[in-house]
Amino acid sequence: MNDVAFLSSLRSVVGDAGLLTVEAEMAGYAIDWRKLFPGKPLAVVRPKTSLEVAAVVKACRAAGVTIVPQSGNTGMAGGAAPDDSGRQIVLSLSRMNTIRTVDPVGLTIEVEAGVVLAVAKQAAAEKGRFLPVSFAAEGSAMVGGVISTNAGGINVLRYGMTRTMVLGIEVVLADGTLVNGLRRLRKDNAGYDWKQLFIGSEGTLGIITAAVLRLTPQPRHATTAFVAVESPEAALALLDKAQTEIGEALSAFELISGPSIGLVEQFAGLKCPIAHADWFVLMEATSTLPGLKHAAQTLLEGAFEDCLALDGVVAESEAQTRQLWSLRENITESEARSGKSVKHDISVPLTAIPAFVAEADAALQAATPGVKLNVFGHLGDGNLHFNVLVSAEHDAGLVNRTVHDLVARYGGSISAEHGIGQYRVNELQRTRSAEELALMRQIKSALDPESGLNPGKVLPKGGSAA
Ligand code: FAD
Ligand code: MLT
Ligand code: ZN
Repeated sequence: MNDVAFLSSLRSVVGDAGLLTVEAEMAGYAIDWRKLFPGKPLAVVRPKTSLEVAAVVKACRAAGVTIVPQSGNTGMAGGAAPDDSGRQIVLSLSRMNTIRTVDPVGLTIEVEAGVVLAVAKQAAAEKGRFLPVSFAAEGSAMVGGVISTNAGGINVLRYGMTRTMVLGIEVVLADGTLVNGLRRLRKDNAGYDWKQLFIGSEGTLGIITAAVLRLTPQPRHATTAFVAVESPEAALALLDKAQTEIGEALSAFELISGPSIGLVEQFAGLKCPIAHADWFVLMEATSTLPGLKHAAQTLLEGAFEDCLALDGVVAESEAQTRQLWSLRENITESEARSGKSVKHDISVPLTAIPAFVAEADAALQAATPGVKLNVFGHLGDGNLHFNVLVSAEHDAGLVNRTVHDLVARYGGSISAEHGIGQYRVNELQRTRSAEELALMRQIKSALDPESGLNPGKVLPKGGSAA
């Protein structure tokens, strides 16, 4: 089939409004937000329904055209960006944006894949319920992308990764079969829990078209504190104390380095509310019951007595809470404005974090002298964004390998929450065992034998044969 006939078959499925073929109109879909992976799609296809998605997948399969699923295009690993062959389509879920139901008693929400995360959270909040997945890009990321990356964020400590929120999904398989698993069940042990394969698979195994997510009661009280600490060791000791004293109320515990605060002051115009230090902790406790503030204050008083905290502020109002969080939420954009960076999204066993930070810093200075660090992240989850600011003379690949070699030595992961996409394909091959990689290839080849879905993402192109 030639391109004209193929595009016309797509148009007959999604209509004129659902098909973009003009380069200027496709520009925003053709590249990742960091502008690291520019591509050239043959078309951008924007279905309105799951049946249209299924028909598009069948048409692509018949024409031998491969598919790059895309939701909000906020991913960190280039997973949603097409290659530059001109032989791929971007399948955008952005027009599938209906919130189907919010059930405040059953504690569920059912949404189409293109619903923006913040919109889903707001719909839950309007019924007094909470969708806990939270991160700085939630105003653009869409539920399909969030599930496909198994996104983490700031509330994992208390609520778990996105996976723990997913009760059911609807998915279009690589051959165009539509599978409806939109159950709202808390308990379901009937056969294999196949949805888990699609969660976090970054569009390489199927296309998620809708989902049922678990909600929780909306916490009515929150206490947020920003604390200066001497070192990652002190931050870890503070986390230990917080877990003992406020336990399950602790919902976020973020570590932020002094240079990260320097970046948001320089590039986002924000002001650190306490004296500068090498490290800071931003922590939040939430509850449906009152009394948190007193508990948080007691915790901080104890932390000062034990010399774990050097300085600190507890938010006195909603506005101050927002200000404290904006320090954290602006780090990524400030880093992007500051120039070139090599991003790492590592996890190691929690108690190894201080040793890892010290060793990685020393290893980098030895291998690539003069690099600057921008280290921050979800300490409570053992997950740091160990980002390295580089200039032209630095070898980005060497920076990457130096950090990841150490991660491997610590028994860690080279992607705690952002995924592999195309950014980390080679590093996944380098850091996972032959047996694990063979298992991944078997899964890919069982579900997508012709490699029509997001080829070259997660696993190398042509690498799906077991
Ligand atoms: P996209 O970028 O569109 O896609 C991501 C991947 O999923 C791609 O491989 C794509 O092919 C695939 N995909 C998309 N939709 C579907 C679908 N319907 N079916 C199958 N595959 C699909 N991530 C975190 O985990 N934690 C954070 O704290 C965090 N903070 C961030 C902060 C900022 C400022 C930014 C810009 C990003 C951040 N991210 C974070 C990364 C990103 O926002 C998340 O990975 C998000 O879940 C991606 O959603 P998306 O809709 O943008 O997906
Ligand atoms: C965050 O936690 O803000 C993002 O996941 C991090 C990043 O920019 O690397
Ligand atoms: Zn993160």
